[in-house]
Amino acid sequence: MKKLHLPRLAALTSLTLVVAACTNSQPAATATDDGSPGFEIYQASCASCHGVDLKGTNKGPSHLSIVYEPNHHPDESFRSAITNGARQHHWEFGDMEPVQGLSDQDIEDVIMFVRSEQVRQGFDQ
Ligand code: HEC
Repeated sequence: MKKLHLPRLAALTSLTLVVAACTNSQPAATATDDGSPGFEIYQASCASCHGVDLKGTNKGPSHLSIVYEPNHHPDESFRSAITNGARQHHWEFGDMEPVQGLSDQDIEDVIMFVRSEQVRQGFDQ
């Protein structure tokens, strides 16, 4: 009796391809829930426009754009954007309204979170 090995070989080959595909794919970069207060504040107050992963939405830009690196947008510009809002000038998303309800400490915490994600995820350019 002659066994037909072909289907098993085909199954093995596709399994190998699946494994290879999984090994090659990078895990999707998302913001780290580092347990910091800044993470919570960002998700609650900024993510709706700037994205849960900081990469922007159709309502606001990515904070991983090189435009927001510390030499171009220092922490003071973050404080100002949160407190006073920001006029549209870099993008086409419209103005940013002031973000209500954050204490001075919340603002420092959220900036610290953005800076740590900029280091961890790197800039998009
Ligand atoms: C309702 C949408 C929205 C929310 C919520 C929001 N932003 Fe923005 N933000 C924008 C838009 C749109 C711009 C881009 C303005 C432009 O064209 O430069 C912006 C720009 C900025 C800038 C750059 C300001 C400048 O001087 O160029 C910073 C910093 C910033 N946002 C931080 C934050 C932080 C931190 C939070 C949360 C506390 C937040 N934003 C919440 C929409 C938003």
